[in-house]
Amino acid sequence: MQTQTPSAASSSPEPYLKIRGVTKRFDKFTALQAIDLDIYPGEFVSFLGPSGCGKTTLLRAISGLDVQSEGTISQGGKDISTLPVNQRDFGIVFQSYALFPNLRIKDNVAYGLVSAGRSRSEISTRVTELLALVGLSDQAMKFPAQLSGGQQQRIALARALALSPGLLLLDEPLSALDARVRARLRGEIRDLQQRLGITTIMVTHDQEEALTMSDRIVVMSRGRIEQVGTPDEVYSRPASPFVADFVGRMNFLDGRLVAPNQANCKGVDLTFAGEMTYAAETQVTVCVRPEDIVVRNINGANTNVFDADVGVMEFVGNHFATTLHINGTNLNVAADLSMNDVRDLGVKPGGTIKALLPADRLRVFATPGAAAQ
Ligand SMILES: Nc1ncnc2c1ncn2[C@@H]1O[C@H](COP(=O)(O)OP(=O)(O)O)[C@@H](O)[C@H]1O
Ligand SMILES: [Mg+2]
Repeated sequence: MQTQTPSAASSSPEPYLKIRGVTKRFDKFTALQAIDLDIYPGEFVSFLGPSGCGKTTLLRAISGLDVQSEGTISQGGKDISTLPVNQRDFGIVFQSYALFPNLRIKDNVAYGLVSAGRSRSEISTRVTELLALVGLSDQAMKFPAQLSGGQQQRIALARALALSPGLLLLDEPLSALDARVRARLRGEIRDLQQRLGITTIMVTHDQEEALTMSDRIVVMSRGRIEQVGTPDEVYSRPASPFVADFVGRMNFLDGRLVAPNQANCKGVDLTFAGEMTYAAETQVTVCVRPEDIVVRNINGANTNVFDADVGVMEFVGNHFATTLHINGTNLNVAADLSMNDVRDLGVKPGGTIKALLPADRLRVFATPGAAAQ
């Protein structure tokens, strides 16, 4: 994960995009439910969520390609809720590059400029500029089929930027590319976005993409927003079990509250930071990430330290995905043990080990329906 610069939200009082109460229905099916969202100038915001949760529908409402059933959208202080697509100010890139196969690269890039009636010399200058911007100056005379997928997507990006739009919309722009190209383009798009300072929204179902590229992430599920936050906030402080599950990997330990800061999960008392305002015995889920479980240098700690039997160990490149059985209980937790931990502590399947579940790394959610006191 790259270090995050403070979100543009903190430095700029006025949102560039204001989405209020946006609902979208397809016949009886509600694809978006009363979405409220502010996006600030120069921000890179990702809509992240599983397939079918409404990401594209929201992007299409913002673009006017598919108008919302209810609610309003304003851009740059102007209400665009009912503005026709061709009067809106955005560039868009789709998953399928959608280049014109019969046009040369330079003419693909020039397309919007020609439609806008720009002069020949202006078009020629701008196309040269745009091809340089995406590092493909030498491809101007080729046809799309002669370019790789990654190159075609850069051309699609250049075309989207041709008219210097105020807003760049990207709908799964990397999903059709292979892993290596995807990783490289991720960096290139983010870099370009920062150089241009263009407000950008990217739709993705790929958490790694969202975490590495975004200033803020909007996590969506079933037509609703689950959480809006920086990558660090969404990853470290998921606002709901859904977010905890969708972003990163997570142990979900079912239990009941035994004190404001303690839950009992299958016989294991786990103390967590903070206090819950629910009655004792409320059903809760304690969440802990496999990488947050500590197995070394825990002598002296006495909270949330357990003897465990080592179960299956799966080598996954930079760590061992390991199952730990907490002794005297039937609680199993997944822990990521580093190569060094495994080597230095001689961890092996069937062995025993001490494990610490750090109180400040536990997230606890009350079971839906539980009433706060
Ligand atoms: N034109 C349409 N007609 C009917 N249902 C649609 C239409 N477009 C999208 N949907 C439905 O709306 C939901 C959200 O779709 P979409 O926004 O494309 O999801 P995502 O981009 O998050 O994968 C899905 O259940 C999808 O089937
Ligand atoms: Mg989609």
